[in-house]
Amino acid sequence: MIRLGVNIDHVATLRQARRTYEPDPVAAALEAQLGGADCITVHLREDRRHIVDRDVELLRQTVTVKLNLEMAATDEMVDIACRLKPEMATLVPEGRHEITTEGGLDVAGQEARLKEVVARLKDAGVYVSLFIDADLRQVEATRRVGAQAGEIHTGPYAHAFHAHGRDIASPNAQAELAKVGAGGAALVDLGLRFNAGHALTYANVQPIAALPGLSELHIGHSIVSRAVFVGLREAVREMKALMREAAAR
Ligand code: PXP
Repeated sequence: MIRLGVNIDHVATLRQARRTYEPDPVAAALEAQLGGADCITVHLREDRRHIVDRDVELLRQTVTVKLNLEMAATDEMVDIACRLKPEMATLVPEGRHEITTEGGLDVAGQEARLKEVVARLKDAGVYVSLFIDADLRQVEATRRVGAQAGEIHTGPYAHAFHAHGRDIASPNAQAELAKVGAGGAALVDLGLRFNAGHALTYANVQPIAALPGLSELHIGHSIVSRAVFVGLREAVREMKALMREAAAR
């Protein structure tokens, strides 16, 4: 059954806009779980621009589904992950000036370093996923460094979909969808778990959710945006219903 990881970073973004205590991502995680989230994801960034250390500590104690820590492969973050032991860590590239994660991790270009980081995390009992572009070179490198899953970057697909009239039949959207599907199939062929995410919305999620072999989608901004109007529990419920409907087709 396809699973949904809900990224609650943007609940913290709203809190940090006023440097206050609300809305609290810990309360958001509970609401997301009540809506059917199978996993709660937070990205602890080096600059702590949204999620802060206190959030991760409390989420570790209160989340009852899988906790996924998105993180850069830095010594500081690896130390935090090895201490808190989230069920899963997703390694992402991180740039100080980016608004959100911009591209997949260049696994092939830093195999030695990533092999070491993946081994440390796995030794601590953390399941490791790498966020990568839909590129066979990166998929193969993901396997070589010892990761257990790859999260294929769906940003280019989402961009093509929205730039071409939100028409899934458009050749550009179809081409990007096929790339995500091929990347996922390559992961599965190599014995790795196929996850996907980034820039998925209620409008574009279904073709991705229908891809064969897909285990998990990681979605944040669109769900938190809808939650402003319908509440987080309902926003998660609606996203999960769309995913399940597409996966069952
Ligand atoms: N997956 C990864 C690896 C990400 O970095 C992000 C953004 O934090 C997401 C999924 C969720 O992306 P979005 O907020 O666009 O749904």
